[in-house]
Amino acid sequence: MRVRVLGIESSCDDTAAAVVAHTPGARPEILSNVVLGQADLHARFGGVVPEIAARAHVEKLDHAVAAALDAAGLDLRDLDAIAVTAGPGLIGGVLSGVMLAKGLAAATGLPLLGINHLAGHALTPRLTDDVAFPYLMLLVSGGHCQFLLVRGPEDYTRLGGTVDDAPGEAFDKVARLLALPQPGGPAVEAEARTGDPSRHPLPRPLLDRPGCDLSFSGLKTAVLRARDTLVARDGGLHRAARADLCAAFQGAVSDVLTEKSRRALALYLAAAPPQPVFAVAGGVAANLCLRRALEAQAQAAGARFFAPPLALCTDNAAMIAWAGIERLRQGATGDAEVTARPRWPLDTASPALIGAGRKGAKA
Ligand code: KG4
Ligand code: ZN
Repeated sequence: MRVRVLGIESSCDDTAAAVVAHTPGARPEILSNVVLGQADLHARFGGVVPEIAARAHVEKLDHAVAAALDAAGLDLRDLDAIAVTAGPGLIGGVLSGVMLAKGLAAATGLPLLGINHLAGHALTPRLTDDVAFPYLMLLVSGGHCQFLLVRGPEDYTRLGGTVDDAPGEAFDKVARLLALPQPGGPAVEAEARTGDPSRHPLPRPLLDRPGCDLSFSGLKTAVLRARDTLVARDGGLHRAARADLCAAFQGAVSDVLTEKSRRALALYLAAAPPQPVFAVAGGVAANLCLRRALEAQAQAAGARFFAPPLALCTDNAAMIAWAGIERLRQGATGDAEVTARPRWPLDTASPALIGAGRKGAKA
């Protein structure tokens, strides 16, 4: 039977709503995918301000839902369920989404599903491509960084993750250090295009340690030192020197993620999955230098490589609706109680890695 699910996402700084439809045996269809960003509200603070984000979600959420239903040409009565991000993330935002979803479910009698935001990212390759379980996923964004073995919609093993900053967070901080605009990732990547990555020998954190854990905060500090040395020597930071520094930083991030991906792939492939797949998601997956390196690593290991289109890599509600559909397909009939959770690791068996970062809880 065809199901149509409304997804709601408000865990960071994007207010999003979407409708996804699915008929068993057919490809899922994204009927609408509305994302109302808040970048302008946070720009002058140099990062996401949780209270401002929560207030903006309260103001924008019902508009996002109305726009998503409108674009899909549907009414609330046409839906089969409502899926909402219940964590992890900035608690004010998560609460806004959960309260709205609860209200809609109570008013319509529709089943309500509380979705883990990370599961939304992790299941995206199955929304965009015909990917079978189990697959290996690298989640790299402004708030998350982890390798996940995805065995089912609610079956994850974390093979490793960052012990401090997420890579997108590091890109953003480096951009700030070098007086480049936010978000830092695209700005640093553009600058790096004309730079020479070999001029500044930056560290490759944690490569000397076994396993798949990562660290990015030392790299950011190394960029700060290199910048200060250049400023002291040249009396300022020249354009070409800045490009070299960006290229060196991007190269270091890419090297570390690629080597850790090699290790994660070896762990994943040891269980001889029938159709090996390595997928990447999150805003940092937009980085071409990184994407190419990861794709080459996957090919060398004999795994197919998938990177969803950018609009579905970054935060959105289509992935939340889809994660809801995956759960319905497994027999879920709705959650009796949905609680907003600032922290909610996908893999509850592995020990927690870190605390909360600038963009919210990362584990
Ligand atoms: O997934 P996302 O939209 O939001 C969350 O953090 O959940 O990711 C945003 C992050 C930002 O830190 C941004 O700087 C980074 O992704 N990013 C990039 C690129 N485009 C976006 N990082 C490196 N290279 C890029 N081209
Ligand atoms: Zn996210």
